[in-house]
Amino acid sequence: MTHPVLTALGLSDNESGTYLGNGEWSKTRDAGVLEPVNPADGEVIARVQASSQADYDTIVERAQAAFKVWRTTPAPRRGEAVRLCADALREHKDALGSLVALEMGKSKPEGDGEVQEMIDIGEFAVGLSRQLYGLTMHSERPGHRMYEQWHPIGLVGIISAFNFPVAVWAWNAFVAAACGDICIWKPSPKTPLSAIASMKICNEALKKGGFPDIFFLFNDAGTDLAQAFVDDRRIGLVSFTGSTKVGRHVGERVARRMGRSLLELGGNNAMIVDETADLKLAIPAIVFGAVGTAGQRCTSTRRVFIHESIFDDVLAKLVTAYGQVEKKIGDPTDPANLMGPLNSSNAVDAYLDAIEKAKAAGGTVASGGKALSDRKGNFVLPTIITGLDNKSEVVQTETFAPILYVMKYSKLEDAIAMQNDVPQGLSSAIFTTNLKAAEAFLSATGSDCGIANVNIGTSGAEIGGAFGGEKETGGGRESGSDAWRAYMRRQTNTINYSDALPLAQGIKFDL
Ligand code: UN1
Repeated sequence: MTHPVLTALGLSDNESGTYLGNGEWSKTRDAGVLEPVNPADGEVIARVQASSQADYDTIVERAQAAFKVWRTTPAPRRGEAVRLCADALREHKDALGSLVALEMGKSKPEGDGEVQEMIDIGEFAVGLSRQLYGLTMHSERPGHRMYEQWHPIGLVGIISAFNFPVAVWAWNAFVAAACGDICIWKPSPKTPLSAIASMKICNEALKKGGFPDIFFLFNDAGTDLAQAFVDDRRIGLVSFTGSTKVGRHVGERVARRMGRSLLELGGNNAMIVDETADLKLAIPAIVFGAVGTAGQRCTSTRRVFIHESIFDDVLAKLVTAYGQVEKKIGDPTDPANLMGPLNSSNAVDAYLDAIEKAKAAGGTVASGGKALSDRKGNFVLPTIITGLDNKSEVVQTETFAPILYVMKYSKLEDAIAMQNDVPQGLSSAIFTTNLKAAEAFLSATGSDCGIANVNIGTSGAEIGGAFGGEKETGGGRESGSDAWRAYMRRQTNTINYSDALPLAQGIKFDL
């Protein structure tokens, strides 16, 4: 029987994973099948037919043809197309949010929140479509004018991860579409249904509005097509969200062909709680940061540094709060639950493995520490581990699970140094009411992350800012601020409106 969440979105239990353009979903049935599993009960939700090489070629050819039209479409008109997509997503928010919860395993409010993020970035992109500004410069030569303008890149490849199966696509696709690019999406093989549903919603809205195809989709049953995609010179920009391991591979391959990549990789995000912190704010921020999405956000809080004078008190409060969360672990589609399962059984293994390593390194489990093997699905207890050094290998490693390493510090500069002393550099936060501490944390000698917050947690960034991080996080920036520039090429123009041809740098070249 087709799952009611799929029915609500007009999806069947045997879907094509390939949108070829022209309203056509591929009929390919021999390129492998993806079987996304409900992480709450281990059952296959539906079958998704993977794409063939021929499907991929058709997509790229059609995308290239579409780009010829789209790049000449005025940017504000392109914004109108994105506006229609955002409106359609608003109408389907409840159903799509439920599908994200079902397929990814995040809680229903977080699934809905993810769709809200799509709507928000859509609205941002509409405004942006009238603000793709370039600068003008003063020429050093008389009778000359200089300026720069931004042109679309062409085809943008989006490879998204299972943990944000729809929002991350929208961050890229809506901004890129406003910029005049055509987007080809390869979602995570774990969450193809959320991708198919998003494509159907957006493409129907575009069609109704009389717009051409700007969004394409393929699904790969193995990794051959994904590799070809990364190596494909026709894809001007590859935006990849996922692990540092795969991201390094993608970045190197794309660089080899002199393409552009935008990398959003792992985080190992920390929070500092100083002796002046308002614990009414800090405790829920830590718990949401570490436990929200079952610790499967790239921005999840993985480390907390607590000032030694309040360490025991904060730890006790955290353990109590974790006890509350334990009572609300369950079916993510039930809005009463705060925490769903991990996305896969491999993730449960990685969680258990990290806990074993932590214990072997001298850590103590202060809360949680085990999988809920008495029930179906990939449920685990959110876990707090104390007694480890920031340098220990398991603390230095991003485990995509709700494991929090709680450590003690005495001097703020030591806490900042430890927070920075990991390979990753995505998100960070300090809880303090001391202005000097807050400013020190945000200064050039403070956090080295792409995101640094005061009195709010590490996760749950708003779309208005540029999102991304340093070091092994990959350096890319997506979403708000001027992240749109990654989806365009800059052109510097010098125009001579005089009757002479003066050369720059005062060079004389008289014929
Ligand atoms: C991710 O986990 O890949 O800041 C993205 C956040 C969300 C996005 C996370 N807005 O937690």
